[in-house]
Amino acid sequence: VARTGVHRGSALTVTGDELRGACSGVAPLPARLEPWQVAVMSAQAALSSAIRSHGSPVNVLDPGPMERNVEELRSAVPHDLTLRVFFARKSNKALAFVDEARRLGLGVDVASDGELRQVMDRGLAPNRVIVTAAVKPRPFLERCAATGVTVALDNLDELRLAGDVAAAAGTTMPVAIRLALRPADGATPTRFGMDPPTIRDALDEPAITNGTLVPVGVHFHADGYRVADRVNGVDQALEAVAALRTRGHRPAFVDIGGGIPMAYLERDDWERFWDRHRREPVTFDRHPLGSVYPMWQSPTRGAWLREVLTSRLPCDGREVGRALADEHLALHCEPGRSLLDGCGMTVARVEFRKPHGDGGMVVGVAMNRTQCRSATDDCMLDPLLLPTGDGSAPPAPAEEGYLVGAYCIERELLTWRRMRFPRGVRPGDLIVFPNTAGYLMHILESASHQIPLARNLVHVDGTLHVDAIDDPDRPM
Ligand SMILES: Cc1ncc(COP(=O)(O)O)c(C=O)c1O
Repeated sequence: VARTGVHRGSALTVTGDELRGACSGVAPLPARLEPWQVAVMSAQAALSSAIRSHGSPVNVLDPGPMERNVEELRSAVPHDLTLRVFFARKSNKALAFVDEARRLGLGVDVASDGELRQVMDRGLAPNRVIVTAAVKPRPFLERCAATGVTVALDNLDELRLAGDVAAAAGTTMPVAIRLALRPADGATPTRFGMDPPTIRDALDEPAITNGTLVPVGVHFHADGYRVADRVNGVDQALEAVAALRTRGHRPAFVDIGGGIPMAYLERDDWERFWDRHRREPVTFDRHPLGSVYPMWQSPTRGAWLREVLTSRLPCDGREVGRALADEHLALHCEPGRSLLDGCGMTVARVEFRKPHGDGGMVVGVAMNRTQCRSATDDCMLDPLLLPTGDGSAPPAPAEEGYLVGAYCIERELLTWRRMRFPRGVRPGDLIVFPNTAGYLMHILESASHQIPLARNLVHVDGTLHVDAIDDPDRPM
């Protein structure tokens, strides 16, 4: 295992504010930084050496903050309600997070056959795994049957196939019925799950009535982050629980899926940004940034879950938490993004600068857009610039410009937002995108142009070592 020393034994001399001083948006969006991130960034030479060894960019990961993040959720739940948290592994592929989830007593929510195999290889107990994959081909369901994990059933075809597979394997399969929530007024209906009439049909399917598929819970995942959607979701899930119980099944949980919100920066910065964006050009070609994650929102994580649990159900006015406990149902959830808050950053090398026709600079960085982007328009946190060398070079003039990546696409920008570099920017400097562990590193990453995917380096006790997901000997 290649290891790179970062800051073992060296006292921290640099602060987050000092690190942020070399680069910000012209309308700034400064990210919160974790102490481990400050420590790693204050050792620029070690990071440059990691990039020389592993290529640019590298993803630097530290699972440490997961514990704090999950404790926030746990502390929001009353003592008489059982909470089981399943880490949504699709949010980051590194196996260090699976290992940490296991250490913290969490379950894992898996989204593909490959994820399932890897999670089982890491020693997760089958009763700590829920399979919520959107598509589940037969070989995948065969692995589910062989391992005994719980499968969230999305539709009748899938249900019948799962029934066949379990029967052929001579086993029973624990399943959660995935509920399609009723759309709010005017909203587009979800494409996931089954509506109540379909659930009733599902319960009449032979594989359910003959006990091959054993309904152990009801599952839903609501798009967006609204408390009200989860409250309505639990309300509808309790109807499904009642339908199951009427037919003699014994569902033990309601799973509210993921989408637990978080905030990546301060409210004032977020609001000031949008105010500036409305009034003056702060993006390339005046890009509207029409679809972005709400980087500041409230409430988040623990406070949000507390609000869900203390809200009243439309059906009978009981508090959500009270109703679940009274019905002897555990609360399950599947957070990805909010568990990975503070757990990663993406580091790349500046390769060139040149003037751009709009009067600013183009700053070429050895990475591409897919290595720091989710399904939205922009990552919406200011990158940091770590100048190369020992600081003895004469100060360079302030510059403004855009960070661009390696794909041959005119509008391949790493961020649409115009950046300011008060002390200039040079080849060899490092650009750091903070807080990228949740989706930004991996959900879209591509090796187009035959540019290899980024290496994933885990920060442990002041050293960086390659995550097991990048082990060349690991079977795919
Ligand atoms: C079924 C399901 N569970 C969990 C998640 C994780 O959501 P998040 O990372 O926003 O918490 C998702 C995300 O799309 C999902 O579809």
